Amino acid sequence: MGFATDAIHAGVVPDKVTGSVMTPIYQTSTYVYESPGKSTGFDYARTINPTRSALETNLNALEGGRAAYAFASGMAAISAVMTLLKAGDHVVVSHNVYGGTYRLFARVLEDYGLRFSYVDTSRIENVEKAVRENTRMVYIETPTNPIMILSDIETVAGLCRRRGLISVVDNTFLTPYLQRPLDLGADIVVYSTTKYLNGHSDSVGGAVVLAREEHAERVKFVQNSVGAILSPFDSWLVLRGVKTLPLRMRAHDENGLQVARHLEAHAKVKKVLYPGLPSHPQHDLARRQTRGSGGMVSFYLSSPEAAARFFAPLKLCALAESLGGIETLICQPSTMTHASVPAEDRERLGLTDSLVRISVGCEDVQDIIDDLDRGLAAA
Ligand SMILES: Cc1ncc(COP(=O)(O)O)c(C=O)c1O
Repeated sequence: MGFATDAIHAGVVPDKVTGSVMTPIYQTSTYVYESPGKSTGFDYARTINPTRSALETNLNALEGGRAAYAFASGMAAISAVMTLLKAGDHVVVSHNVYGGTYRLFARVLEDYGLRFSYVDTSRIENVEKAVRENTRMVYIETPTNPIMILSDIETVAGLCRRRGLISVVDNTFLTPYLQRPLDLGADIVVYSTTKYLNGHSDSVGGAVVLAREEHAERVKFVQNSVGAILSPFDSWLVLRGVKTLPLRMRAHDENGLQVARHLEAHAKVKKVLYPGLPSHPQHDLARRQTRGSGGMVSFYLSSPEAAARFFAPLKLCALAESLGGIETLICQPSTMTHASVPAEDRERLGLTDSLVRISVGCEDVQDIIDDLDRGLAAA
């Protein structure tokens, strides 16, 4: 089926008892056995829950994977993927991954003997050079949050295949509607479903979609063993959100491009970071690898003081962390989403106090632009 049809129907079957068209929220911890040792296939809800299973089937169909698993947060999903590794293994990571991912790697997993090298994965030679004898995985985020650097998924995945490494892509910013890493050869895709997949800023969750059976089996085992599962209610919310994913992503993409163009033409804006603009250094790769650049737009004002003045007059754009909701959110990454990145690394990566990130929502785009103009007039 086509993407929009799968988004609405995949994994969703009318309830056997009532015929309910929508998947019910199976709010149960356990299930009746037919006889001792003989379950219906459902035994305990950490292991399996019909609402979560419907979502996992749906996400797997959208991504073209072998299996998908839903977790209590994006970070729980990423943690589960990292359990494919053992103490002593080394990972090559995009140098400006989401701050929480960096924190998990640097301040939790290093203590368990995993080793990480952070490189600019937009240049394949940097990845090649960083691979060591004990390297087992390359972990990329494309585009990166919030600097919008792209990595060439097909090239990175090809290198991984040749060197026997696992390739992982955090596709949270674009979703399978705009970018399908597994089709480009990646082994694993991770999501914070908190963002565009759910799309309504009312649930925290994560997902892993896997192309290879041996990885899928292990992640399923870990999902049950560690237990960081997505709740039935949150599974239902994400399943409902995904039904409108194509509609929302088209609107985010259209509004994102218009906002980026408007900012680029504005005298108070120093620089706009949006792969959909011809001025982006990787615009050609964006056109090759994605169906659109979505709703995430970052830009630099002239100074931290200008940024401080910019936020105060905003009325529509909510000053908040997170992204990917139907409404426009705006933030200063250096003091909010990326505050956990050490100050010297922030400076090196361009995560200065002059940088603003917008998650452009699906409102009337002129209202978003008028609001940004209010802030820019004050900046
Ligand atoms: C790109 C990216 N990956 C992963 C995460 C972590 O997801 P969660 O907050 O759902 O744990 C985030 C959160 O902002 C993110 O932006």
